[in-house]
Amino acid sequence: MRKTASTTVPVHPLLAERWSPRGFDRAHELGDDALTALLEAARWAPSAQNSQPWRFLVTRRGEAAHDRLFAALTPGNQAWAGSASALVMVAARTAGDDGRPQPWALYDTGQAVAALVTQAQADGLSVHQMGGFDTAVVRTGFGLADTLTPVVVLAVGQAGSPAGLPEPLAAREAAPRTRRPVADLLLPAGPERQLVAA
Ligand SMILES: Cc1cc2nc3c(=O)[nH]c(=O)nc-3n(C[C@H](O)[C@H](O)[C@H](O)COP(=O)(O)O)c2cc1C
Repeated sequence: MRKTASTTVPVHPLLAERWSPRGFDRAHELGDDALTALLEAARWAPSAQNSQPWRFLVTRRGEAAHDRLFAALTPGNQAWAGSASALVMVAARTAGDDGRPQPWALYDTGQAVAALVTQAQADGLSVHQMGGFDTAVVRTGFGLADTLTPVVVLAVGQAGSPAGLPEPLAAREAAPRTRRPVADLLLPAGPERQLVAA
């Protein structure tokens, strides 16, 4: 299925064609090289002072750790995410060893995920990011250090048929993707500027 972004001027196909499927091909397996390419893309993301605060907990379908990470997802995400080839929990190192906050860690980690997602798109894979998971379950279940903040779980795999999805997910899968127009994203920069509403 294609859900190409509608843009006023062309943007790179890797960006325009990316979307977040819920229908994944259960027969697809994520090989070591394919996985490594995703992690390399993330690894080379820019970060404040080259601090590289992103950490990845990789689990593949069929592994015990995958079952444990799956169990931490919200029921709404459990309804579809089990078909993906891998579930990857992304954490950010939001505090240093001395406990001092790392103010750019979440920003940097999001950037690393964006690079990973774009590499996946280039490799014919899809990624669906999920904030819907129990961070406390992940923290205790995988023994995360206090310096790490669980941020997101990625469902990674090959997009497949939406046929098995329950409603309303099947309808959502077929719906067009939407965005605010660019004009809505611009803050006034001229002399007429006033207090800007969010
Ligand atoms: C940080 C973050 C958290 C998200 N959490 C969920 C989630 O828990 N469940 C879900 O189905 N989609 C989730 N999404 C996917 C968004 O709903 C999706 O990216 C958005 O609707 C735009 O659709 P598109 O990615 O197909 O363009 C999340 C995306 C991001 C970036």
